[in-house]
Amino acid sequence: MNQDQLKQAVARAAIDYIAPKLEKDSILGIGTGSTANFFIEMLGDLKDDFAGAVASSDASANKLRTLGIEVLDLNSVSELLVYVDGADESNAQLALIKGGGAALTREKIVAAVAREFVCIADESKWVKVLGSFPLPVEVIPMARSYVARELVKLGGDPVYREGVTTDNGNVILDVHNLAITDPRDLELKINQITGVVANGLFAHRGADVLLLGRAGGVEILK
Ligand code: A5P
Repeated sequence: MNQDQLKQAVARAAIDYIAPKLEKDSILGIGTGSTANFFIEMLGDLKDDFAGAVASSDASANKLRTLGIEVLDLNSVSELLVYVDGADESNAQLALIKGGGAALTREKIVAAVAREFVCIADESKWVKVLGSFPLPVEVIPMARSYVARELVKLGGDPVYREGVTTDNGNVILDVHNLAITDPRDLELKINQITGVVANGLFAHRGADVLLLGRAGGVEILK
């Protein structure tokens, strides 16, 4: 199976996982990226079984609307049944790096409101130690250089993602060369830098379930 087929397999597994939980008034949280896109396409078939969705990006919101799924403002919703999204890396504790698609802040917000976070990923995302994938950090534009200097003090090599503006009007620094042995600690340390909006470590709110696509089938990790 190629990577796209593995992504499709985990998207299908996520549909099978959530379908029995859906109720007519359920609101779902929907993520961003190529794996989430496969999930969104398949979700169209279930659109009469739930009330609507909150999306972690404008791109995903547009895709949902195209399928006839109602997209709601998170402020009008008190709880999401589930949040389904991909990841750039996951470790065995289901701590994640996310934000390769620059949607990390909204992803964190939507994940925070969800009762359950179901992560869908192909096996290339499975790692022993997080950090081979450069850690995305969303930053207020005027703080970019200051935050970059502070990230260097934490041992990383931040690189400005040129030409990218987030849905929130901010910029992204991708932090290279981190071996993240304590993701919970680093997540807090980066959040404490003034000018940081959010960082792509999902350790305090990691995944509750990881559907991991391997050549031999989809593994369910909790
Ligand atoms: C978006 O900002 C990211 O967090 C994605 O969830 C992550 O980059 C995974 O993307 P793919 O599913 O495209 O690999």
